[in-house]
Amino acid sequence: MNSLRLRKARRTDARFLGSMLVEALNWASTRSVARVDALADPAAFRYIEGWKRPGDGGMIALDAAGTPIGACWYRLFPEHSPGLGFVAPGVPELTLGVVGVWRAQGVGRELLRGVLVQARQHGFTRISLTVDRANFAARLYAAEDFVPVHRRENSLVMVRLLG
Ligand SMILES: CC(C)(COP(=O)(O)OP(=O)(O)OC[C@H]1O[C@@H](n2cnc3c(N)ncnc32)[C@H](O)[C@@H]1OP(=O)(O)O)[C@@H](O)C(=O)NCCC(=O)NCCS
Repeated sequence: MNSLRLRKARRTDARFLGSMLVEALNWASTRSVARVDALADPAAFRYIEGWKRPGDGGMIALDAAGTPIGACWYRLFPEHSPGLGFVAPGVPELTLGVVGVWRAQGVGRELLRGVLVQARQHGFTRISLTVDRANFAARLYAAEDFVPVHRRENSLVMVRLLG
């Protein structure tokens, strides 16, 4: 996509990140959890709660008019209260979502690459995520050098070294 622009996520992007979190939760066409219900789940809401905290980072993709069309961001969780993709203290977890009509045009991959650069610049040496095994996004992550470190019944936890 020629007109794609990325910028760093700001504190004021919290609502849009919430929308992209809902997209990530509703990754399959068979899923349609309403925003209000999705964000009422503490296990989901904690990925954006209080955005933007120290240690948080992310990128927003914009269309030619400057409207947000996708987001990728990361956040740290403590060992005593790990996220779904937790692997170790100090390893942030990544979330990725693209607005439906903008999918399959390279936006997700560009966001992912931008966030990997940003996380490395922030001094992180690894980044993790969890993805449903049936979600084609798992193939995108593998193609961008994420490696499965835990295999659950329906999902994978994957890690990317930020060398
Ligand atoms: C997953 C997601 C972020 C990917 O972003 P995207 O902009 O659609 O993906 P891209 O266009 O960058 O494509 C990345 C790769 O996925 C492939 N792909 C894209 N859409 C696809 C689809 N519907 N089915 C299968 N593969 C697909 C592309 O072919 C590309 O691979 P290739 O370059 O080897 O051909 C986006 O589709 C999305 O928001 N999905 C719903 C939320 C979600 O699942 N988030 C991830 C949760 S872990």
